[in-house]
Amino acid sequence: MTIIPPVRISVIGCGYLGAVHAASLAKLGHQVIGVDVDPVRLAALEAGRAPFFEPGFDTLLAEVSATGRLRFTGSMAEIADCELHFLCVGTPQKPGSGEADLSYVDAAVRALRDILASPDIASAVVAGKSTVPVGTAERLADFFADSGANVALVWNPEFLREGFAVQDTLEPDRIVYGLAPGEAGRRGAAALDEAYAPILHRGTPKIETDWATAELVKVAANSFLATKISFINAMSEVCDATGGDVLALARAIGLDERIGPKFLRAGVGFGGGCLPKDIRAFAARATALGASGVAALLTPVDAVNRRARDRMVDLIAESVGWVVSPGSVGQSQSAEGNHPSEAGLQPESNPPRLAVLGAAFKPDSDDTRDSPALDVARRLAALGADVHVYDPAAGSIVSRLTPELTVAQSLSEAAEGAQALIVLTEWREFIDLDPDSVTPLVARRVMIDGRSALPAARWRDAGWDFRGPGRP
Ligand code: UDX
Repeated sequence: MTIIPPVRISVIGCGYLGAVHAASLAKLGHQVIGVDVDPVRLAALEAGRAPFFEPGFDTLLAEVSATGRLRFTGSMAEIADCELHFLCVGTPQKPGSGEADLSYVDAAVRALRDILASPDIASAVVAGKSTVPVGTAERLADFFADSGANVALVWNPEFLREGFAVQDTLEPDRIVYGLAPGEAGRRGAAALDEAYAPILHRGTPKIETDWATAELVKVAANSFLATKISFINAMSEVCDATGGDVLALARAIGLDERIGPKFLRAGVGFGGGCLPKDIRAFAARATALGASGVAALLTPVDAVNRRARDRMVDLIAESVGWVVSPGSVGQSQSAEGNHPSEAGLQPESNPPRLAVLGAAFKPDSDDTRDSPALDVARRLAALGADVHVYDPAAGSIVSRLTPELTVAQSLSEAAEGAQALIVLTEWREFIDLDPDSVTPLVARRVMIDGRSALPAARWRDAGWDFRGPGRP
């Protein structure tokens, strides 16, 4: 067995990405310090508690905290003796523009530069994991070089999915190194090879490339996934217009190996902290570089995705006989946050009581960032519906962010007196729900599957009116 010497590592930024990365590196045997500016997040992590809902993360944290190999701090000074520094800070969307806001990256790099430019530090390796516009690594490398710090910068994008963060970090599909030319590149690659040794020894594919390609791999992957989802949602519209079945269509095209079955679930569309903002930032960056084909592709992908939310409001209104506007409420596409009530549409009759099942942007997560489920729930409430939301993990977050919604403590509480049950996040609890168990609770037996996840025949056999985008 090869003995791998532990590396002294810092992880700057301990959100979803950084916290899981730090704990995973400690699990691999390294000495790790996580740094963050948020005292609430730090307090949780220092106590060995996950500051967000992520399956398996609490267990991993407890396990590695007990080894003494992982600690957290608010002070950058404490990471001075680390050999390898991972940048894991967020790159949110700039308000009012599609571009990425790099202020957290720049602040972290300035703070790191102040430490690494000290004459006491001979050299260090910095590995960027944040999702950044192409060209950022080169700019940051120049910044370190100008300061006199001897830094080898590597771009090492992260592909973890929320809900599978621990598994994706410890057992990734692939590892990508974006390397500087020459000696700095070799030094950067050697440091990452040591950090990831147990993963690489298992035969995980490693792709060594230049900085720009590594930065692009991440946004290209997310753009492809987003495009697949919008593709199938566009197909669901044609199915609605023709009586076709988008589930059968997705199954049939997915059996073609060149297409593959994943990310072809039609419904209320993609959300979360990555896909929506990454495709917008990529389109903005590519356009600035004169590569206009990217925006020509991704702007409609974004528009179809917004339209999926509009169509869902439309379907819900129609299913319960709620007249919201003379035509469709699904006309507004362009401006961010534009929804029916803002577009001047008004409810005209009998606002219903509705049970929205799910608020997180995906199951096994309490993340409601750009969540299609929460967005649709908000729009329904804005149109006057009495909306009761139940989510197995995100309830307290919804109460805090959206006081206009009633948060139910259980599925049954949400279902009580509802004119429709609407699944907008495909939690297992909703997929497995027995129609007979909720039949006595609801005012009308209407089930709307906004995620193509429920067994239609089971609900129809139990006497329910079962609907969903692209479902006959
Ligand atoms: C994504 C990428 O998958 C991951 O590789 C990257 O590192 C970060 O961004 P994540 O944001 O966790 O991960 O979510 P993902 O599983 O990709 O789902 C994104 C959204 O697409 C969710 O809202 C999900 O409900 C939706 N989705 C997914 C669909 O609407 N249909 C599908 O078929 C699949």
